[in-house]
Amino acid sequence: MAEPLRVGIAGLGTVGAAVARLLQRQAEALRARTGREIVVAGVSAREPDKERGVDLTHAAFFSDAAQLAASPRVDLFVELIGGAEGPARASVETALANGKSVVTANKALLAEHGLRLAALAEEKHVALAFEASVAGGIPIVKTLREGLAGNSIDRVYGILNGTCNYILSRMELEELSFAQCLAEAQQLGYAEADPTFDIGGYDTAHKLSILTSLAFGTRIAPRAIDVEGIERVTLADIEAAAELGFRIKLLGVAQRTAQGIEQRVHPTMVKKTTAIAQVMGVTNAVTIDADAVHELTLVGPGAGGEATASAVVADIADIAKGVRSAPFGIPSAALRELRRMPMRRHEGGYYIRLTVRDVAGAFAKIAGRMAERRISLESIVQRGRFQRAGDQSSAPRSVSVILITHATSEHLVREALEAIDADGTIVGKAQVIRIERE
Ligand code: HSE
Repeated sequence: MAEPLRVGIAGLGTVGAAVARLLQRQAEALRARTGREIVVAGVSAREPDKERGVDLTHAAFFSDAAQLAASPRVDLFVELIGGAEGPARASVETALANGKSVVTANKALLAEHGLRLAALAEEKHVALAFEASVAGGIPIVKTLREGLAGNSIDRVYGILNGTCNYILSRMELEELSFAQCLAEAQQLGYAEADPTFDIGGYDTAHKLSILTSLAFGTRIAPRAIDVEGIERVTLADIEAAAELGFRIKLLGVAQRTAQGIEQRVHPTMVKKTTAIAQVMGVTNAVTIDADAVHELTLVGPGAGGEATASAVVADIADIAKGVRSAPFGIPSAALRELRRMPMRRHEGGYYIRLTVRDVAGAFAKIAGRMAERRISLESIVQRGRFQRAGDQSSAPRSVSVILITHATSEHLVREALEAIDADGTIVGKAQVIRIERE
């Protein structure tokens, strides 16, 4: 049997502790699968003596993660600290510079510094593995990098943030407000420490940037992503979507177009009959459109200690076997610059909810502004007449109007809405949600 693989784990939070437990629980199977024993030889954590349900007394303790990364006691460094900078970045750089392979679940670090870290790993002939960084326990990195190597990918999209999917699912199923559902998600520990990271779409964007690079062989480009969060999605939108045969999901979408690659994160209308629409709660899902497999959807746990540890341990097992793929599928020097397709050129259908003044001719004016730009409407639905709260006057009442457009261009929709706004036919801001094609 080959020499044992000596692993150093930096960060013993929910995921780090679960990795240590899983390595212990599956020790025999991992030995059989990799031909080596995998031992936790060193750890680094903020609270050394905390009870974690695993015996780590044989592992050397380091208060500084970078010292663990540089230690001759470990062959492989596992970074589970989190954050794009600080000790996470310093320790990963140290490990690679010292010629040690790295396994990380750190999406922010990869989004910000992935290209440079991949180049360093290649230069040192070591592995940089990050299966756990996207969609937790779903093996999406390996699927894109190895499993679909014989395909040309057109689009990859998914539910990449469990917190947002939990909130949207609860709003729909329990008819609760956004604020109530966010509070629940925080209580259950799904949301990041700063929940704006989840609900603002930034967590999804980090993950999407990794998927884009793997799918299209491009340099990771988080700043070329158009990001909108779920904060403005209301119960009214969710109910209207349901009536029209849709569900609202926060999707991260990367799509190849003739003009470049579109990377976008936003609340999205998906047909209720699609695989992705069935995914409720904290579960994640990724769909890939590719020439040979056509459509492939992977569904599974996107977060949580054990599920994320499953992905980390899979990477550790690969490295124990001597597998060393180029981190982003092709050598980093061969990754192409991403040509960004601007959002205003996005083509697709739109859901538009307007609060319209209930005066004669308002509908006609709105339809006219759309027609001027050749925006074809699939449906117009008026949802009730209502008096604005506290409005006792004889002022015109408002009605909620929902337009569904056929495929059109984003800039035309924006122009039409500006004209409608200038006409004074609507109250407040239009709600616009893109419809994702099947
Ligand atoms: N906060 C993230 C989520 C955790 O809700 O999906 C996993 O990255």
